[in-house]
Amino acid sequence: MEYQLTSPEETQVLAAKLAQLVTPGTVLFLIGDLGAGKTTFTKGFALGLGIKQMIKSPSYTIIREYETGRLPFYHLDLYRLAGNNDDLGLEEYFEGEGVSVVEWANLLEELPRDYVTITFTKTSLEGRILNLKATGPNSTALLKKLAKEES
Ligand SMILES: Nc1ncnc2c1ncn2[C@@H]1O[C@H](COP(=O)(O)OP(=O)(O)OP(=O)(O)O)[C@@H](O)[C@H]1O
Ligand SMILES: [Mg+2]
Repeated sequence: MEYQLTSPEETQVLAAKLAQLVTPGTVLFLIGDLGAGKTTFTKGFALGLGIKQMIKSPSYTIIREYETGRLPFYHLDLYRLAGNNDDLGLEEYFEGEGVSVVEWANLLEELPRDYVTITFTKTSLEGRILNLKATGPNSTALLKKLAKEES
C-alpha cells in the first residue's frame, strides 16, 4: 500500500490513524534515510495512542517506553547500534503486550514473525511516499483495516 503525503502534519495524521487500529504485539519497522520522516511519523503515532509526552529520539538508550497510552508503546532507534545486536532481547518487546516502532529497522539481524515495514521516500521538501507492507497475518489484517478507513 502506498500513501503520498505532502506535509509533516499529513504524515502524522496517517500515523495516528494507524495507531488507533493497532493491537498488542504490533511491530512497525520504519526504513528510510536521515530526515525521511521516521521520528515525525512516530510522534503522530504516539499521539494516536493517546500519549501526550514529548517523543524524543531514543539516542543513547536505543529504547524508550511509554506507558500512558491505550497500549504500552516502545520506541526503538537502532541507528547507533554498531554491528552485533542479537543479544538485545528485543523479542521481549516485539512479543509483548505493547506496540513497537523501530527506526532503522534494516539494522536488525533477527526478524519477528509478524511486522509492518514502512519505507519512507523523500520526493520534495515536504513530499513523502510511504510504502506499507505486511509480513504475517496480524499485520495483513491491520493494513486491510487501514485501507478501509482511508477509502
Ligand atoms: N511529509 C513529511 N513527512 C514527514 N516529515 C516531513 C515531511 N515534510 C517535511 N518533513 C520534515 O522532515 C524532517 C524529518 O525528520 P525526522 O526526524 O522525522 O526524520 P527521521 O527519518 O527520523 O531521521 P533520522 O534518521 O535522523 O532519525 C522533519 O523536519 C519534518 O518536519
Ligand atoms: Mg529519527
